[in-house]
Amino acid sequence: MLAILLAFMHTQAVGTPEEDRAVFLSTFAVNIPGIPVSQYVHGSMMLSTDALNQYDSIMDFPPFQEVIDRGQEIWETPFKNGNTFAECFENGAVNIAGKFPLYNEKLKRVITFEMALNSCLEQNGEMPMNYIDPETMGALSAYARSLSDGMLMQIEVASASAMNKYELGKTLYFRRIGQYNLACASCHLTNGGRYFRDELLSPTIGQAVHFPVFRGGERLYTLQMRYQRCMEAVGAVPFESGSEALNNLEYFHSYLSNGLPLQSSVYRR
Ligand code: HEC
Repeated sequence: MLAILLAFMHTQAVGTPEEDRAVFLSTFAVNIPGIPVSQYVHGSMMLSTDALNQYDSIMDFPPFQEVIDRGQEIWETPFKNGNTFAECFENGAVNIAGKFPLYNEKLKRVITFEMALNSCLEQNGEMPMNYIDPETMGALSAYARSLSDGMLMQIEVASASAMNKYELGKTLYFRRIGQYNLACASCHLTNGGRYFRDELLSPTIGQAVHFPVFRGGERLYTLQMRYQRCMEAVGAVPFESGSEALNNLEYFHSYLSNGLPLQSSVYRR
């Protein structure tokens, strides 16, 4: 549903994507000084040794391994026509997820990694998966993304029409929404690395590289499902997963994590 309540737009500077990244980085450098950017991938946990120790011990024996194994099974099972997912992607999909979302010049839209998985299904005469189904798309994406673990995020905004989508995503990031009248940026830029009410907030940079996450060790969230929970938290009706609005948002949001290593999947509280 597109029934997001528009209240008020932040004035946002017009900048290149690299200038935007620099603004985010310098804000965090002031608000959370002394923390190397490489640590941002741990989100709010980077500020607590206890949280990081707990994270490490959970990641030694991830309670969600079974879900990833199920994803591997889906990935490896041939379609009815005998083809497999790996054949749809360059390099069998090894070290590819960090290029998504990408802007497709021919289709004139942003394509997420999950959309590429679904179009692989459709090209092979199979039914596409529901973007918010943890059992199918969730598990599949958790495994397929793990083939790119360690790859550095490298989102490209290479044309004026790509820039247009990036700008749309950025506008949504800075737009105040919901009953609480807060923007993504109000929490994760202005207050990233700080307490907001009683929650320690992760900075925007580093957020996009480790999805899906398993919250509480069990509940799987793709990146867009996580966006939806934050939209609900501020009293807004979230956009649908796979909608143009969230795809553009994911394009902008992921660009900001360029240069950081991917890791799928991880534990989150
Ligand atoms: C009221 C403050 C608030 C707003 C506004 C908000 N979030 Fe969040 N967000 C949180 C909290 C709290 C968490 C959980 C702690 C953390 O990881 O930051 C979170 C977590 C996340 C995460 C997961 C980070 C991780 O490492 O697992 C992402 C991604 C995210 N938010 C994106 C967004 C986006 C995109 C928007 C705008 C649509 C948004 N948030 C708006 C409070 C907010």
